[in-house]
Amino acid sequence: MKQVIVSGMRPTGKLHLGHYLGVIKNWVELQEKYECYFFAADWHALTTKYDKTDELRQNTLDVVMDWLACGIDPEKSVIYVQSLVPEIAELNIYLGMITPQNWVERDPTLKDMAKILKTKEGQGQQINYGLMGYPVLMSADIMMMNSDLVPVGSDQIAHIEITRDIARRFNNLYGEFFHEAKPLLNNCALICGLDGNKMGKSFKNDIKISDTEEDTAKKIMTAITDRSRMKKDDPGHPDECEVAFKYWEIFGNEEEISTVRYECEKGLRGCVQCKRQLGEKINSVLAPIREKRKYYEQNPQEVEEIIRDGSFRARQKAQEVLTQVRKLVKMY
Ligand code: TRP
Repeated sequence: MKQVIVSGMRPTGKLHLGHYLGVIKNWVELQEKYECYFFAADWHALTTKYDKTDELRQNTLDVVMDWLACGIDPEKSVIYVQSLVPEIAELNIYLGMITPQNWVERDPTLKDMAKILKTKEGQGQQINYGLMGYPVLMSADIMMMNSDLVPVGSDQIAHIEITRDIARRFNNLYGEFFHEAKPLLNNCALICGLDGNKMGKSFKNDIKISDTEEDTAKKIMTAITDRSRMKKDDPGHPDECEVAFKYWEIFGNEEEISTVRYECEKGLRGCVQCKRQLGEKINSVLAPIREKRKYYEQNPQEVEEIIRDGSFRARQKAQEVLTQVRKLVKMY
């Protein structure tokens, strides 16, 4: 019996290289060894964007197209949309009944989200009941498939801890049934944005998986380099190069990285030339992914079918779990 993995992403639109290198690449490897469920968390998107639903459908398609392009394989993994598996909403009700209010109030990730909402960026939004339920709904996502492992970033650990506490409480109250899911952290180096800060769509410092080659090349030319370097034949300091050399270390092979380092340190390669080459390198690494993405963009009905089929399979598993849950809780 394979262990079960569940992970999701809020459908916020086209994904960037931070998502690819930090999350999706890891999922692609996991699908070889585990029974994997990957979903677009459209209900979770509603917890803060309930008033901006015009783009929700397209954003969901975009996220799934990015996954498929990067190598998430519908033959190996179950790809679905959260709201197409209504069993999750029912499980959410049972879990909500046994979750003390102070467990959700204590959740540091939720506290951070609340803080952002109150600022200008969040347009002074208030905290709704649905947002308070974020960690419980996430527990329902995870427990719906009776998952063992949840690949997430370190910012999500607090949520997974609540999930484990809720699973324990359920098992104590109604009888041993749920596994205690553990977070699965991936140890890859984080890719920074073009300005050296965390890569993010709202910071406008990101490169999208779906960007064109021209856009990518242009964006790379804006990447920060070694700030102390004035002229192109000054000796450079790759380790103080804030972005460009870090990207070389991610996308280049060993030989390329050592050549870039040598030429930079000797003043043989200027930053402009270096970034032009870097853009070409990144474009060549992304070429097969982008080609696949184009295919899905041109065949959206195929993507819809993958979502429909995956959601059907997810529901079958969810119904098995829910039957047990209803029995244990002693529902009618
Ligand atoms: N909260 C996650 C995020 O913002 C998305 C998510 C929702 C999720 N449900 C999940 C992740 C269940 C893993 C498992 O990234």
